[in-house]
Amino acid sequence: MSLRARLAGIGHHLPPRVVTNDDLAQLFDTSDAWIQERTGIRERRFVDEGTTCTDLAEAASRQAMEHAGWEPEDVDFILFATLSPDLYFPGNGVFLQKQLGMGPVGALDLRTQCTGFVYGLATADAYIRSGMYRRILLVGAEVHSRGLRLTDEGRDTAVLFGDGAGAVCVEAVEADAPAQGDRPSSQLLTHALHGDGANALDLCLKKPGLGSFPFISQEQIDAGDTAPSMNGREVFKNAVRRFPEVIGEVLADASLAADDLDFVVPHQANARITEAVRSRMGLPEEKVASNIHNYGNTTAASIPIALSEAVHDGRVQRGDLVCLAAFGAGFTWAASLLRY
Ligand code: COA
Repeated sequence: MSLRARLAGIGHHLPPRVVTNDDLAQLFDTSDAWIQERTGIRERRFVDEGTTCTDLAEAASRQAMEHAGWEPEDVDFILFATLSPDLYFPGNGVFLQKQLGMGPVGALDLRTQCTGFVYGLATADAYIRSGMYRRILLVGAEVHSRGLRLTDEGRDTAVLFGDGAGAVCVEAVEADAPAQGDRPSSQLLTHALHGDGANALDLCLKKPGLGSFPFISQEQIDAGDTAPSMNGREVFKNAVRRFPEVIGEVLADASLAADDLDFVVPHQANARITEAVRSRMGLPEEKVASNIHNYGNTTAASIPIALSEAVHDGRVQRGDLVCLAAFGAGFTWAASLLRY
């Protein structure tokens, strides 16, 4: 029997504490006007003390499983995408497995930052097509707020990022499953994954790390090496080129065109990047997810949060052709095309 994968359920979770641009302007030299004009962001969510990235992932996973009608014991495998794990090692997958009370299922952490969710979806699809697993829980979750440098020196990145989580339940279906009424049957179609280490240092976290000694020191913390370091212009320039390119690649692979798309969920890096991509591809505003004004950039969580919102408020319906696309640190860029 030939197998395909489909999204059986989706959920998301944002911590309740809202941090506005004006709140940040109390902490360092910035302004609501600057942040909104350059990024589109109005506010983001920060966790309170005691909440971990795994906690956010657990809440999103429970919502996704409820949507799919799954119990934790139904899950065969966990994929966890994050750049802000609770510990340097082990990865967050095993913490999530424990918190959800699951049996000893495999748990794989993905470290491709903003593209982590799309890389994870492609990985889940490959496992399912191969017959290795039938029910995979994929989560993208981040707690950025504890790693940001909320000072004048760190302001270029401190204004961009927020905390949150999104999760999907990916399940096996027969490749020739009948269509649902007049809607095409729901399945993941194709993916494109890319990376180029030539720009690795244009967006990175220098410390802690074992590429140089020491692993971490007070001097390195004081110098800002534990906050993201970013060449914003280089990121921007490459993002506006790579997004349309990689979306075009998956459409061509499926012999479809931009006009066929019902909905696009770009990684929420910057409203100006999303807008540039939308206008280059000639897509109407209502077909492109944009929620960065509410949450900032939540890295691996941004795509599942935006898709979950669109599914739960009815903008995305079963059978719709949806493209997910991301660009970020690495540089890595990636897209998935699916029938929801
Ligand atoms: N508040 C106020 N002023 C700020 C600021 C802040 N938070 N951060 C930087 N500035 C200042 C700079 O110091 C600079 O001042 P100067 O002209 O006196 O030197 C000025 O604003 C312009 O800075 P610059 O970095 O050139 O701005 P920009 O137009 O490139 O916008 C970004 C900066 C970060 C918004 C933009 O480069 C960007 O969005 N890049 C992509 C980032 C991204 O998506 N990252 C995540 C990848 S997934």
